[in-house]
Amino acid sequence: MRSDLGLGLLPSFRLVVLTGAGISQESGIPTFRDAGGLWERFDMRQVATPEGFQKDPSLVWRFHSEMRRYAQKCAPNAGHIALADLERDLGDEDRFTLITQNVDDLHRRAGSRRLLEVHGNVFRTRCTDSTCPKSTAFRDEALYEEAPRCPLCGSLMRPDVVWFGEYLDPIIETKARRAVMNCDIFMAVGTSGAVWPAAGYVEIARAAGARTVIVNLDPPENLRAFDEFHQGKASQILPLLLKR
Ligand code: OAD
Ligand code: ZN
Repeated sequence: MRSDLGLGLLPSFRLVVLTGAGISQESGIPTFRDAGGLWERFDMRQVATPEGFQKDPSLVWRFHSEMRRYAQKCAPNAGHIALADLERDLGDEDRFTLITQNVDDLHRRAGSRRLLEVHGNVFRTRCTDSTCPKSTAFRDEALYEEAPRCPLCGSLMRPDVVWFGEYLDPIIETKARRAVMNCDIFMAVGTSGAVWPAAGYVEIARAAGARTVIVNLDPPENLRAFDEFHQGKASQILPLLLKR
C-alpha cells in the first residue's frame, strides 16, 4: 500500500476530504457509534431530533452545552492540522474541499477555511422563528441549563446543528455535492458511513471516476465503495498520506 497519495505528482488534481467524529476522537471528543460513544450514553431521539426539542428544549440545550464544554476543552490534533496545512499549500479554491459532519469547530480552530460544515456547528445559535432576524445563526459559546429565548421575538433559540429527521442546508449540500462530483480523489476520514447523505458521497465520487480512499479505525459500513482502506488512527495516517 502506498503511504502517500502522490499529491505532488498531479499538479491539477482536485481532492475532497469528508471527515467524521473519528478525526476528533484523538482530541478527546467522543464519537457517536463506537463503544462508549454518545448514542450509547444518550437517547438520540431525546437530544437530537426536532420532536425531542419540542418535548424538552432544556434537555436538548444541556446536551449541546455539554458538547460545547467538551469541544472548548479539546484542541485540534495532527489530523486536523495536516488538512489545514494542505489547504494552505494548495492555495486554490477548486483543488481542495473539506466537508465535515463534525459540529465541534476543531477544523476551523486548526486553520481550515474552505470548510463545508454539513451538520452545522455547535458553537452557533439561531432563533427557531424563520421570519426573525435572529434566525440567521450567530456565534455563541454560552452554556445553557435552560433553553434560551430570543431577545427579539421571544421564541425558543436552538443550536445550529442538523438533527435526525432534518434536511441539510440546501446551499451547503449543493456545494458539497458539486465538489464531490468534480473531484479526482475522494477521501473519507473517521466516519462510520452510517449517516446519509454524507455516507453516499463516496458513490457519487466513484461514479464520476474518482479514486476513493478511507482512513478509519474500523471498517465503515460503506467500505465496498472505497478503492483503498488505510486502517488506523487519523492523526497518524493523515500526515503521512497528505505529505507533499
Ligand atoms: P461515528 O461515531 O458514527 O463513527 C466514527 C468512526 O470513526 C468509526 O467508524 C470509528 O471506527 C472511527 N474512528 C474512531 N476513532 C478514530 C481515529 N482515532 N481515527 C480514525 N478513525 C476513528 O461518527 P460519524 O460517522 O461522524 O450527526 O457520524 C455521522 C453523524 O452521526 C454525526 O455527524 C452525527 C451522528 O449522529 C449529527 O449529529 C447530525
Ligand atoms: Zn427571534
